[in-house]
Amino acid sequence: MNNFPKGFLWGGAIAANQADGAYLADGKGLTTVDLLPTGEKRWPIMDGGLQSFTPEPGEFYPSHDAIDFYHRYKEDIALFAEMGFKALRISISWARIFPNGDDEKPNEAGLQFYDQLFDELWKNGIEPIVTIAHFDVPVHLVETYGGWRNRKLVHLFETYTQTLFTRYKEKIKYWMTFNEINMLLHAPFLGAGLVFQEGENRTQIQYQAAHHQLVASALAVKACHETIPGAQIGCMLAAGTVYPYSCNPDDIFHAMEKDRESFFFIDVQSRGEYPGYAKRFFQDHQLTIEMAESDEELLKKYTVDYIGFSYYSSQVTSTDPEILKNTTGGNIFASIDNPYVEKSEWGWIIDSKGLRITANQLYDRYQKPLFVVENGLGAVDQLTPEGEIHDDYRINYLQAHIEEMAEAIKDGVDIIGYTSWGPIDIVSASTGEMKKRYGYIYVDRDNNGSGTLKRYRKKSFYWYKQVIETNGQKL
Ligand code: BG6
Repeated sequence: MNNFPKGFLWGGAIAANQADGAYLADGKGLTTVDLLPTGEKRWPIMDGGLQSFTPEPGEFYPSHDAIDFYHRYKEDIALFAEMGFKALRISISWARIFPNGDDEKPNEAGLQFYDQLFDELWKNGIEPIVTIAHFDVPVHLVETYGGWRNRKLVHLFETYTQTLFTRYKEKIKYWMTFNEINMLLHAPFLGAGLVFQEGENRTQIQYQAAHHQLVASALAVKACHETIPGAQIGCMLAAGTVYPYSCNPDDIFHAMEKDRESFFFIDVQSRGEYPGYAKRFFQDHQLTIEMAESDEELLKKYTVDYIGFSYYSSQVTSTDPEILKNTTGGNIFASIDNPYVEKSEWGWIIDSKGLRITANQLYDRYQKPLFVVENGLGAVDQLTPEGEIHDDYRINYLQAHIEEMAEAIKDGVDIIGYTSWGPIDIVSASTGEMKKRYGYIYVDRDNNGSGTLKRYRKKSFYWYKQVIETNGQKL
C-alpha cells in the first residue's frame, strides 16, 4: 500500500523554450535557446561556442515553433485536466516579459499571456508551479554583457523576478528559481548564456557565473517572501546519485566529489554558505570568486523553502582510466555503463531504485521538503493507423519510478509532489529532436518541423489518469 500524502501534487512539467513556439510573438525577444539548431551543430553551441547572435538563414531551429503551446494551451490544459492533473510546472520566458532583458518597462503583452495561462489552469483545477529561468536567457544580455558572467545580470534578474512576484502574487504559490542550476557546469550556454573566447579560463568564468546566479536566487527568495506571504520558493537540481564503480576507496571518494560538484549549488541555496570543499576546490584550481560585501549575508539569510529536482538516471564513476572508457549517455552528464540496469534508446541509464536513493540522500542532507519536478523516459513512439500509441515501455518506466518514490516516502522522506517531464511531447533540450518523446499526449510533429501538430492520447494517458485518481494506489 502506497501512502502518498493527501494533496500530493501529481502532474507534469514543461518549459517555455521547448513547448511554446511563437518565438517572436507579441513582442518577445530572442533567447539563447532560439539560437540552438538540431543535429551536430547543437552541442558545440550549448558548450559555449556560439558564433553568431542571430539565427542563420536556412537553418532549422526547433524552439521557434516547438509544439505551439503558446496558441494551443487551452486545448492542452483540457487534456491535462482530463488526466486529473493537480499541478502543471511551466516556465516563464524572461524575454516575453523583458524582450531585451534590460528594458525599462516590462512587455504588457507577455505579462498578459501568463495571466491568461494561469487563469486557464486554475479554471481547470490545476495549480501552476512556476520556474523563473529554464535555460532561456535573452540574447541581448549575452551579446551586451556576456550573460551570467557579468554581475549586471543579478540586478536585471532582480527586476524581472520582482515584476513576476508583484504581478502574479494572487495566482502563484510555488516558485522555483533556476532550472537544473548545476547544468551551468555541463552546458554553460544553456545554463547561463556563457560564450567562451579562446584562451579563457572556463572554470573561473563558470564559477563566477554560478556565484551570480546563487546571489540572484537568494534575492529572489527575499523578494518572493516579502511580496507573497505564504509562497514557497525552491531551487532545482539535476540530480542522480553518482555510484562508485568499485569499493576501491579512491572510487568512493571520487564518486563523492562528483556528487559534490552538483550539491555545491544546493548547499549554498539551502544551507546558506559556501561549503569547505568548494573553498578548497577554488584554492586548488587558483580560482578567485569576486563577491560583493553583502553577498555572504544574503546567501545565509535567504535560503530556499524546498528542494526541487529532476531525476532521470543515476551515474557511475571510477578512477580507473580503462573503465572510464566505457561511457554511456545521460542527462548531459556522461556516465560509465552500469551492468546491472537497462538503458534507454538514447543510452540513459534506467535505474528506478536510484530515485529512492537520490531522494533519501537529498533529504538526509537538507531536511527540507523535496519536489520531484522532472522524471520520465524519452523514447520513440509509433502512431498506429488507428491513431493509437502503445507505450508500455513508458508506463513500465514511470510505474517503477513512482513505486520507488513511494518507498522513499515510507523511508520518511518528505515529498510534496511529482510532475513528470513532458506530459505532452515537446522538443528535447539536449538534442532538439521531437522524436525523443516523453508525453502521455502525442504531438504530430517530426524532427524537421513537419506535421499537423494534432494531439493524440497515448496508452500512458489512461494509465497516469488512474494513478492520479487513486493517489498512487493503482500503478
Ligand atoms: C532536463 C531539463 O535536463 O531534462 C529539460 O530540465 C529536458 O529541459 C529534460 O528536456 C530531458 O532532457 P532531453 O534532453 O531528453 O529533453
